[in-house]
Amino acid sequence: MNTLDLHVGRLGRNARAGLMDAFREAIRTGRLAPGTRLPSSRVLANDLGLGRNTVVRAYSELINEGWLMGQHGSGTEVARRAAEPAPGREPPRPPRARPQLVHDLRPGRPDLSSFPREEWIRAVKRTVSTAPFEAFGYTNPHGRSELREVIARYLARARGLRARAGNVVVCGGAAEGLRLVAAVLLKAGVTTVAVEEFGLQTQREALLKAGLDVVPIPVDADGADVSTLDEVAPGAVLLTPSHQFPLGVALHSDRRAAVVDWARRRGTLIIEDDYDGEFRYDRSPVGALQGLDHDHVIYLGTASKSLAPGLRLGWLVVPDHLVGAIVAEKGWAEETVGFVNQLAMTDFVESGAYDRHIRTMRAQYRRRREQLVGMIAQHARVTGMSAGLHVVVDQPGRTGAELVRRAAREQLTVEPLDFFRHPASTSDRDGMAIGFAAPSASAWSGALDALVRTLSNDRRGAG
Ligand SMILES: Cc1ncc(COP(=O)(O)O)c(C=O)c1O
Repeated sequence: MNTLDLHVGRLGRNARAGLMDAFREAIRTGRLAPGTRLPSSRVLANDLGLGRNTVVRAYSELINEGWLMGQHGSGTEVARRAAEPAPGREPPRPPRARPQLVHDLRPGRPDLSSFPREEWIRAVKRTVSTAPFEAFGYTNPHGRSELREVIARYLARARGLRARAGNVVVCGGAAEGLRLVAAVLLKAGVTTVAVEEFGLQTQREALLKAGLDVVPIPVDADGADVSTLDEVAPGAVLLTPSHQFPLGVALHSDRRAAVVDWARRRGTLIIEDDYDGEFRYDRSPVGALQGLDHDHVIYLGTASKSLAPGLRLGWLVVPDHLVGAIVAEKGWAEETVGFVNQLAMTDFVESGAYDRHIRTMRAQYRRRREQLVGMIAQHARVTGMSAGLHVVVDQPGRTGAELVRRAAREQLTVEPLDFFRHPASTSDRDGMAIGFAAPSASAWSGALDALVRTLSNDRRGAG
C-alpha cells in the first residue's frame, strides 16, 4: 500500500478517528483493494507523522469492525470482503477474523527488531563476492562443508558437543531436522517415540505424520522423568534437556546420566532439541547431552532463537552410523537452505559476529526477564526462568484458560500451558507460558503493563 492511497487530509485533534475514516473511505471506494497488505504501524506512523499508538489503535478498531484483518506474523491487510456492496446487493458480512491483539507475549520468539542487519548484510556481501562459481550450483544435501566445519567448532566450544564436520547436516531449521530423523527412524524399524508431556505440538505432529506413535513421559522439577522409559520402551526419546520446553527446567545430572545409560542398554536413540541453549542466565551453561554420548544422541540445533526463524537455518549433529541415512533421506531435491544463507552464516560465526550478537541479546533478555519477574512476582508464581526466552506464570485459583481470557481483555496474546500438553498427559500443571523476548524495545513496556493488569486484581483485570 502506498500512503498516498489514503486521503488523510489534515487529521486534526482526533487523529485516530480521522485515520479510521480515511481507511474506511479508501476501502469503500476500492482505492485499497481487499487483500492489500498494510504497512506496519511503525512505518505508517512515521509516514503520517502520528504516534505509533494512534495507528495501532486505529488498526485494532478497524479489525474489530471487519474492515481489516490481522494475522500474527503476517501483518495487517484489507479484509477480503470489506468493500461495501454495490446498491441493491446483499451487504457483505464482516469476516470473522480472530482480532489481532496489540501486545504479544507468546513464547518461542526472539526479538526480530534486533536482528543484526548491518553485520548480516556485510556477511552476505562478502559471501556473494567471494563464493566460488561452484557454490551457485545445486548444493550438496549434506550442507556446505565450510558451514559444517564452523558449526562443529562452534558447538564444541559453546555447547560442549563432540562433533566433526562430517556429523553435521545442515537443514531448514530444527523442524526439517526432526522430519528427517523421524523418517530415518521409521525406516530403521522404530515404531514409537517418547516425548516430554509438555512440548511443541508441531513436533508431535511431525512424528505422527511420519508414521510414528508418540507417547508422553512425565516432566517434573528435575526435567523429564526418564525412569519411565524402560516401561514405555520407545525406540527413541525426544528431549529438551538444557531448558525444557515450555516448563523451563533443566534435566537433572542424574537423569542425564540415566537417559544415556538407557539408550546404551537398549540400543535406542535420544533426540536432543537444543533450541535455546545459548541463553542461560543464572548458572554456567548446561552443556549439551550429546557431549556425554555422541553415538546415541542426535542433536538438533537452530538459529531460530539466536538469530531469526525466518532464516530457516538449522543443523543436525548425527552419530556416524546415521549420517548416510539422514543425508540420503534429505536427498538432492529437498535442499532447503540456499548457499547464500549457509555461507553468510559461516562468515557470521567466523567473524565473531554471532558470538557478539548472542552476548548482546543475552544481556537484553536478562534485563527483560528481571523486569518481568520484578513486576509480576507479587501477583503470581514465576518458574523456569534460569534460561531461554520465556517463563511459566501461574496464579493460584486461576486456570491458564482464565488467565488467557483476562489477557485478551488487556489486548495481550499469551499461550496457556495446555496448548503444549500431550493429550494423554495426566499432569495437573496449569498456567501460561510468557515469552519476554519478542516485543521490540518500543513494544515491551506496553506488553509488560498489560501482563501486570492481567495478573493484578484491580477492576479492569477482574473477571
Ligand atoms: C522447543 C523448540 N524446538 C525447536 C524450535 C525451533 O524450530 P525451527 O528451528 O524449526 O524454527 C522451537 C521454535 O519455536 C522450539 O520452541
